[in-house]
Amino acid sequence: MAEIGLFEAMYTARAIRRIKPDPVPDEIIAKVLDAAIRAPSGSNAQSWVFIVVKDAEKRKKLGAVYKKASAILSKLYEGAKPPPHMDPAKYERWWKTVVDLFDHMGDAPVLIVPCLKQSIWTGAASLPDDIKARMASAGRIAGSSIYPAVQNIILACRAFGLGTVLTTIHAFFEDEVREILKLPPEVQTYALMPVGYPKGKHGPVTRKPINEVACLDAYGNAWTVMPK
Ligand SMILES: Cc1cc2nc3c(=O)[nH]c(=O)nc-3n(C[C@H](O)[C@H](O)[C@H](O)COP(=O)(O)O)c2cc1C
Repeated sequence: MAEIGLFEAMYTARAIRRIKPDPVPDEIIAKVLDAAIRAPSGSNAQSWVFIVVKDAEKRKKLGAVYKKASAILSKLYEGAKPPPHMDPAKYERWWKTVVDLFDHMGDAPVLIVPCLKQSIWTGAASLPDDIKARMASAGRIAGSSIYPAVQNIILACRAFGLGTVLTTIHAFFEDEVREILKLPPEVQTYALMPVGYPKGKHGPVTRKPINEVACLDAYGNAWTVMPK
């Protein structure tokens, strides 16, 4: 298929949740994985593992975990109003596709589970307690060595005409996922991504404009130059 440009990929790589069951050639998955591993990681550690799940039984089991987690997500969203940047009809459509995936995660021909192995900081034990506490409070950066690779997966899928979506709610039942995938204790999952040919179309990706989300020099001082 004809290559698409980087910006076209970024501007059209919408979250795809309705996926055909048609198989995806291993050669294409290999290219997607090869794009993933071009991502940066802290200390260039590349402590990632991408579990590609093709086995129908395992996909079914992961799909069941996702369905179970979806009950929690539904509860979290109960009574939620559309965010101001999304019109109600669009929000309705979005939620419908989210709910659709609750029942069909396991039907995607490929599931990719991006994981990280725990970093081994050989000098960590000898650090003073206050520094250890600072490091613990920086837990929010835990995924920073895997999510750039996840974005590369999203863009590479788009380039090959595949659809995918970054999902994370499987983590509510991480223990069950670990059992299905036979993960050793030092390996944690960071996403569950269905991959396959989309039932609908790609793009366009719509977002709040940059003057609403970017600042110049300090918080609150809006960036004003708009792209042409
Ligand atoms: C951290 C993160 C977690 C997400 N988790 C889920 C999820 O559990 N289920 C789901 O259907 N989509 C999930 N998404 C996808 C978002 O809903 C989607 O990226 C967003 O709505 C934008 O969609 P669009 O690119 O089609 O506009 C997640 C996205 C991110 C970045």
